[in-house]
Amino acid sequence: MIFVTGGAGFIGANFVLDWLAQGDEGVVNFDKLTYAGNVNNLAALQDDPRHVFVRGDIGDGEHVLALLREHQPRAIVHFAAESHVDRSIHGPAEFIATNINGTFALLEAARAYWSALDAAGKAAFRFLHVSTDEVYGTLGPDDAPFTETTAYAPNSPYSASKAASDHLVRSYHHTYGLPTLTTNCSNNYGPYQFPEKLIPLILANAQAGKPLPIYGDGRQVRDWLYVADHCAAARRVLDAGVPGETYNVGGWNEMTNLDVVHTLCDILDSLQPKADGGSYRSQIAYVQDRPGHDRRYAIDARKLERELGWRPAETFETGIRKTVQWYLDHPDWVADVQSGAYARWVETNYVHRGDVR
Ligand code: NAD
Ligand code: TYD
Repeated sequence: MIFVTGGAGFIGANFVLDWLAQGDEGVVNFDKLTYAGNVNNLAALQDDPRHVFVRGDIGDGEHVLALLREHQPRAIVHFAAESHVDRSIHGPAEFIATNINGTFALLEAARAYWSALDAAGKAAFRFLHVSTDEVYGTLGPDDAPFTETTAYAPNSPYSASKAASDHLVRSYHHTYGLPTLTTNCSNNYGPYQFPEKLIPLILANAQAGKPLPIYGDGRQVRDWLYVADHCAAARRVLDAGVPGETYNVGGWNEMTNLDVVHTLCDILDSLQPKADGGSYRSQIAYVQDRPGHDRRYAIDARKLERELGWRPAETFETGIRKTVQWYLDHPDWVADVQSGAYARWVETNYVHRGDVR
């Protein structure tokens, strides 16, 4: 049995679905179901006895500890977080509460549970902390990609809160001996991503005939990774990672935001042509830039390849086609997440960016 936090969110749900598709080991899926958590993501597991879903907050250490003692997992895989940079700019408090204090409470519960295991259980136990490349800050155009030894320099409340959580996890290994592992991954895309993030937002707006908002000049660079590749990396690190180590995970796939949006428009033009015969590119709208916007992220994932043999299976071309097709095939999923709470967020975030909705 493994204990997954945040398994109703984008990456967590993909991880749980992949995990149960590939083996028989059960999952306790612990998720607060914030705006980003969606039980519909787990609909395929409704009658699966290997999947135990529990609604709860990682900040509630007593709840977590009771579940750990009840289910006796051999590992915790920690995805739960507030994850959207723009939201962290408008309201950082939730990011401090969940990403920092929540991770602290989870670590304390894990330590209490782990300390009481016998020697073999202690040695086999793992705490896998899923983090981001954004902790390293921003790169210039000619800088080498981030490695595991790049100094932390977070620039948003989101990345600062994730950096703090990474440091706490590190300290629990060095101070208490908790067998922790940390992954720092680049931008993910794929099925079940909440349409506040660039790729699903562009797909949803394109189909709705709405503007496609590009922050600033659109020349910022991200290193995109298909979510199933991130899930495979997490499984590999859980299996064979060395406690106390951190591993960078990336797609070897740097692209400007403008190139990503053009690619999405071109695929949509071929799969679902606009009624007026024009291109979705005509909906592109340049809007006010994000404050503190990091210019470039790029990951050097050679340690993970060299030491654990992981490489991404998808290229951007193959992954993005699958992704666009998935969103076209699941209009009900998109409509469902675009609920009242989401509509209010669009008001807050885009109203000052040139009235793009
Ligand atoms: P998401 O926002 O889609 O999902 C987060 C999940 O965590 C949701 O299901 C939410 O309900 C749950 N959650 C939030 N607060 C909680 C709390 N206090 N207690 C319990 N559950 C809570 O995020 P995501 O994109 O799936 O990211 C998952 C993890 O991966 C995060 O830690 C994020 O920092 C990291 N990450 C994401 C990316 C990316 O591109 N999305 C890249 C690298 C790393
Ligand atoms: P996002 O998906 O929010 O991920 P992150 O900020 O964690 O990298 O954004 C990806 C890039 O796309 C980032 O440079 C901001 C930009 N962006 C836009 O230009 N327009 C948008 O509407 C959004 C949501 C993001």
